[in-house]
Amino acid sequence: MPVLTGGLRELPPLSLYVHFPWCIRKCPYCDFNSHEPKNGFDEMAYVDALLRDLEYSLPEVWGRPLTSIFMGGGTPSLFSPQAMDAFLAGVRARMKLHPDAEITMEANPGTFEIERFRGYREAGINRLSIGIQSFNPKHLKALGRIHDGDEAKRAVEIALTHFDNVNLDLMYALPGQTLEEALSDLNTALSYGITHLSAYHLTIEPNTMFAAQTPQNLPDDEVSADMQEAIESCLEAA
Ligand SMILES: C[S@@+](CC[C@H](N)C(=O)[O-])C[C@H]1O[C@@H](n2cnc3c(N)ncnc32)[C@H](O)[C@@H]1O
Ligand code: SF4
Repeated sequence: MPVLTGGLRELPPLSLYVHFPWCIRKCPYCDFNSHEPKNGFDEMAYVDALLRDLEYSLPEVWGRPLTSIFMGGGTPSLFSPQAMDAFLAGVRARMKLHPDAEITMEANPGTFEIERFRGYREAGINRLSIGIQSFNPKHLKALGRIHDGDEAKRAVEIALTHFDNVNLDLMYALPGQTLEEALSDLNTALSYGITHLSAYHLTIEPNTMFAAQTPQNLPDDEVSADMQEAIESCLEAA
C-alpha cells in the first residue's frame, strides 16, 4: 500500500457540517446564525447554493470519504424532505459517502415538523436531534419556544417510530427552574430510551434579547452547580 504524505496509509475521512440559517421565530437566548425569514425563502435555491459551495471545496478534499454529515441550524426542519433528499443526492454525486455514514438533522418539535419525520428518514437521514429544551410549559414559555410540552413528547414518540438513533437537546438553569424540575425534564427524556442526550446550561450570550433584558429569576450559581452535578450523576447511572 502506498504511504501518503505525513506517513498516512489512507486519506483521513471527513465530517460535513451544513448550516440552515432560518427559524420561525428567534429565541431570546440564541446567538446562533439564525434569522426569521421576513419574506419566506426559496429552499431549492439554497440547496443549489450549498452544492455549488461544496463544488468549490472539492479540490481540497478530493478522494477523502465522508463518514458523517450534520445538518444544523437554525431550523433545518423548515426544509421539506424533498429538499433534504435533493441535497443528499447532490452530496452523494460529488463525494464518496461511506455506506454507514451517520447523517443527522436537527429538528424542532413543532407539529408541522413532526409530520415530516418519516419523509426525512426516507431521504436517508438516519439520526434526528430534537431541540426539546424542556417538557415543562412554564419553562418553554420563559424560553420563548413555539412548541409546548405535549408537542415535545409527541415529537419524541413519532421520531422513535422512524429513527433508531435520536438525540434530545435539553437546557437547564432556566428562569424560575428548581432542581426537581430540571431532574424531572431529564427523567422524562431518559424514559424514552434515546441513544444520546445533550444537556446545556442556559448561557446568557452577548447581543441576545436575554442579554438586553436578563430574566431576574435565574437559578443562582449554587443551585445551577447542584443541577449540573445531579444531571451528571443521573446520566452516568443511565
Ligand atoms: C442552535 S440550536 C439548534 C436546534 C434547534 N434550532 C432548536 O432550537 O431546537 C442547538 C442547541 O443549542 C442549545 N442552545 C442554544 N442557545 C443556547 C444558550 N444560550 N444556552 C444554552 N444552550 C443553548 C439548545 O439546546 C439548542 O437545542
Ligand atoms: S429555534 Fe434554535 S436556532 Fe432558532 S432561534 Fe431558537 S434556539 Fe436558535
